[in-house]
Amino acid sequence: MMYFSPNKDVVTIEEMDFSVYLSDQQIQERISAIADDISQEYIDKNPIFLVVLNGAFRFGADLFNRMDFACEIQFIRVKSYEKMKSTKNITIKGIEEVRLKDRHVIIVEDIVDSGLTMHRLIPMLEELGPKSTAIATLLTKSDALEHDVDIKYVGFDIPDRFVVGYGLDYDEMGRNLSHIYQLIDIIE
Ligand code: IMP
Repeated sequence: MMYFSPNKDVVTIEEMDFSVYLSDQQIQERISAIADDISQEYIDKNPIFLVVLNGAFRFGADLFNRMDFACEIQFIRVKSYEKMKSTKNITIKGIEEVRLKDRHVIIVEDIVDSGLTMHRLIPMLEELGPKSTAIATLLTKSDALEHDVDIKYVGFDIPDRFVVGYGLDYDEMGRNLSHIYQLIDIIE
């Protein structure tokens, strides 16, 4: 079950409370700046954006709304989290269908947390012979990073605390929320 407080600044999902951490407006302003940076760099390179589903569907859509140059958009599906924990057991689907040879590739991700997903994905992509690879992620949790990952575009670096909304889920809930909400500490 998911429900809101009367003024909608707290959302409760399965008995856990999350409060607004990044507003829709803050997110959109930051995405505009990232879209400008990417456009400047890739305008004449016909890049391929590789959107990591499910979490990055909103970030990708809002990013592409602001980019009007030649590019391709492809999707892969990655799953690692069970509720609030990474299982370290990462499944990557759809990579066999993407053609990246000699292309500039920009991975579009919702959040880089431990960095394990990107650490596994990048070598798989490199085997397909791209001209370059870069990562654009809306969020990083740099305090949680355990793997060396080279990230070119970052929206916000946030504390190591669970967040939902704007594509990010808790047990598949909350992806539809337009703000990003952070778990409220439970004081016992
Ligand atoms: P990593 O492999 O540890 O870097 O984790 C990356 C994936 O974990 C992301 O693509 C998300 O799907 C998920 N994830 C990490 N932190 C959060 C969070 O705070 N909320 C929701 N999903 C998260």
